[in-house]
Amino acid sequence: MRTYLVTGGAGFIGSNFVLYLLERYADIRVINVDMLTYAGNLENLKAVEDDPRYVFAQADICDGAAMRALFEQYKPDCLVNFAAESHVDRSITQPEVFAKTNVIGTVTLLNVARSAWQCGEDDYGDHRFLQVSTDEVYGSLPLDDPKAFFREDTPLAPHSPYSASKAAADLFVLAYGDTYGFPVNITRCSNNYGPFQFPEKLIPLMINNARHHKRLPVYGDGLNVRDWLYVEDHCKAIDMVLAGGVLGEVYNIGGHNEHPNIHIVKTIIKQVSEALDDQAVNETLIEYVVDRKGHDRRYGIAPDKIKADLGWYPETPFAEGIIKTIQWYLDNEEWVARVTSGAYQEYYQSMYGDRSL
Ligand code: NAD
Ligand code: DAU
Repeated sequence: MRTYLVTGGAGFIGSNFVLYLLERYADIRVINVDMLTYAGNLENLKAVEDDPRYVFAQADICDGAAMRALFEQYKPDCLVNFAAESHVDRSITQPEVFAKTNVIGTVTLLNVARSAWQCGEDDYGDHRFLQVSTDEVYGSLPLDDPKAFFREDTPLAPHSPYSASKAAADLFVLAYGDTYGFPVNITRCSNNYGPFQFPEKLIPLMINNARHHKRLPVYGDGLNVRDWLYVEDHCKAIDMVLAGGVLGEVYNIGGHNEHPNIHIVKTIIKQVSEALDDQAVNETLIEYVVDRKGHDRRYGIAPDKIKADLGWYPETPFAEGIIKTIQWYLDNEEWVARVTSGAYQEYYQSMYGDRSL
């Protein structure tokens, strides 16, 4: 029986990954280690909470003693590190939290896993440490060169405190591979969308605001481009890297699905309006607001390596994935209300003033 230690498994992608694993494999055990920050919600995992193959432990990945105890208790075969502060806007106002969780947390996990798994000089048996990283570590591409893409050997050039912290963590992960022969992989994925994404991120925020006839805040000129991938396709890619990725290698993940933000917002308006049969959901809700500081212009991933070496490909076309996603948020209004209640309301007001949720 294979034991996966998944950190950040109560967040957006982590919870989708835990559900994906338990659905796909019978003979496994999944230990979900999550501190439950504002972004972590156990409700995402309701479907598996009574599953004997699933264990939840509330802990901080920066807490070495707690991580060691979990390794001793559960003896994981592999670790997939999703745990992070993940929102770029927050990193602009609170960079230290990002440095702590994303960098110190990753180094803590590397140290604990290394000492738990070492069985000889540079020998860690059949174990594997997978760091879930992001295309944002590569920086920004120009809009006027649509054939330029991020490849695995594109130099790291992060701009935001978030992406700087993820790039720093990546370099530690690679350094543990080079220095100690530690069995690592890194995946760098483009923007994910799908169920359970915290409604501070573009797609769920716009769906939620649109349905309530609230303003839709578009940063700058709305022409920044993101490369969107349905979350389940990301989960599948991570699973394939765990199973067959060459140790020490980085794999880019993305579906060549680039859209300017304004196109995403207009698509959401149209779909929400149709789904609710509500003409008041229309483009007059759009409000161009002051741009994000250091706003990366375009992300575009070249996923050629993972396609050629591991046979991965994105299965969900955007036209299908976005409708499924919009419907999920419309059907789960209570989830949205619960996760954005309390402290999040105060935070949102302090960040965005009267741009109401
Ligand atoms: P998220 O913010 O939804 O979830 C993060 C989870 O980590 C939460 O459950 C939170 O409680 C937990 N966490 C935070 N600090 C912790 C700590 N110190 N100890 C233990 N748990 C802690 O994030 P997400 O969007 O699901 O992203 C997951 C990972 O994927 C991140 O590492 C992110 O950098 C990366 N990523 C995200 C995207 C995307 O589009 N969302 C794309 C590429 C890569
Ligand atoms: O590319 C992968 C990254 O994608 C992940 O590493 C990050 O964790 C994840 O948050 C995401 O980062 P972005 O900054 O691209 O996502 P966000 O949803 O915050 O913003 C997407 C785009 O939409 C970006 O250009 C900013 C813009 N935006 C965002 C919000 C929240 C708006 O115009 N208005 C908004 O209100």
